[in-house]
Amino acid sequence: MFSHRIDEHTELRLHHERHAEELFALVDRNREYLREWLPWVDRTTTVHVERNFIKLWSESFGRGEMMSLGLWNLGKLAGTIGFTGVDSGNRTAEIGYWISEDQQGKGLITRSCVAVLDYGFSELNLNRIVLRAAVENTRSRAVAERLGFVFEGIERQSEWHYDHFKDIAAYSMLADEWRNREQS
Ligand SMILES: CC(C)(COP(=O)(O)OP(=O)(O)OC[C@H]1O[C@@H](n2cnc3c(N)ncnc32)[C@H](O)[C@@H]1OP(=O)(O)O)[C@@H](O)C(=O)NCCC(=O)NCCS
Repeated sequence: MFSHRIDEHTELRLHHERHAEELFALVDRNREYLREWLPWVDRTTTVHVERNFIKLWSESFGRGEMMSLGLWNLGKLAGTIGFTGVDSGNRTAEIGYWISEDQQGKGLITRSCVAVLDYGFSELNLNRIVLRAAVENTRSRAVAERLGFVFEGIERQSEWHYDHFKDIAAYSMLADEWRNREQS
């Protein structure tokens, strides 16, 4: 099973169906906070639904289409990070993440992104990784900018969130840029 240690306390592990209860509880505790920026929160209604999501993610991972990892800190699930839309023909994917409200501000997501980007560019042989965040989502945009993603522009009314469209700020990182960043 894929797992990657970030430091002595923090580890990324592929989500597994046995984590459904813990993942659901985490989403449920953070529902209002996550709902502001993520469009799937209202669909996560029960542990059973969560288990089915994890099953679908595992199947998609097997087909090489996505990768959804739990971010574990001090033995507890704290968030999720991974890739969606892996396109091996064009060698692109989109990175996404969230962390529980009480675990923000510690650099856990930025440091996890570094590991996931390394994996994407080296193991998955991606050439371009996209990061998309709502224009007003300053914390997520700060992650992109801290990592050196290049801002490409605004996708107007690009995502439907419950009862309104959100404008999305689109960023990207190319393999060469990531490697050069490592050397500098
Ligand atoms: C977006 C989100 C993941 C950002 O979380 P975050 O905790 O701000 O991001 P990080 O874990 O990288 O932490 C960065 C903070 O830790 C600090 N930090 C401490 N050690 C650090 C380190 N080693 N490396 C980087 N930052 C570090 C940074 O200075 C920054 O502090 P600040 O918030 O005071 O500016 C989080 O707000 C979230 O899950 N929001 C709800 C869902 C969401 O919006 N998901 C993204 C949709 S696009």
